[in-house]
Amino acid sequence: MTTPSPKTTAPLTTGEFGFSASEGADWSRYLTYRPIYPPSFYSRIFDYHAGKLDPRVGWDVAHDVGAGCGIVASTLASRFQTVVVSDPNEGYTELARRLLVEEAPSPKPEKRFRFVRERAEDARSVQDGSVDLVAACESIQWTDTRAAIAEFARQLRVGGTLVVTFYSRPKIAGDEGAARAVSKVLESFNYPFWPVPGRLRSQIFPS
Ligand SMILES: C[S@@+](CC[C@H](N)C(=O)[O-])C[C@H]1O[C@@H](n2cnc3c(N)ncnc32)[C@H](O)[C@@H]1O
Repeated sequence: MTTPSPKTTAPLTTGEFGFSASEGADWSRYLTYRPIYPPSFYSRIFDYHAGKLDPRVGWDVAHDVGAGCGIVASTLASRFQTVVVSDPNEGYTELARRLLVEEAPSPKPEKRFRFVRERAEDARSVQDGSVDLVAACESIQWTDTRAAIAEFARQLRVGGTLVVTFYSRPKIAGDEGAARAVSKVLESFNYPFWPVPGRLRSQIFPS
């Protein structure tokens, strides 16, 4: 894979991207109704990262891509010295700053974060090979995936960790009967699934 250099194009000042207010996104409802990431989610990420043997990788910089209101950045900041909190939609990183720095039950110093309004595909402010861990949690589906992955490769230090999470149907391998049974149960609940952006939102936020 080729790794593009940092971009020098103009800062992102206009445009709305998937999961924007005009698309019906509402952070207070999101925070109320979405499943939370359990402690085991973060332990798995941190344990994996801690197991890296490459001495060029450490706990300096994490990048929460498509951070929204900063749910993941909040816990990344418990381990990494600095967390880049990026999101392309206007107002989202301001909200993240408010929740992480000003109103958090245990606020973290602002200098621990860098808030930037950028798309995953075009995070020009992040230097080549400067990030130990990139996390794109429930945001990859809104991106041009190839461009985003190339960007992550450019930003990551050699041996760094890439975390991509996305809700989908669980797949059961090696047991056809169990797979069929689980599938039936999920279908009976009309289990949310995102074949196209917006499907889950329309189920969670019916008009
Ligand atoms: C479902 S929220 C996920 C927020 C948070 N990461 C979490 O795990 O809860 C999706 C986020 O992706 C952002 N987004 C949309 N298009 C994007 C893009 N091209 N690059 C990066 N983020 C994008 C949205 O603004 C929104 O904040």
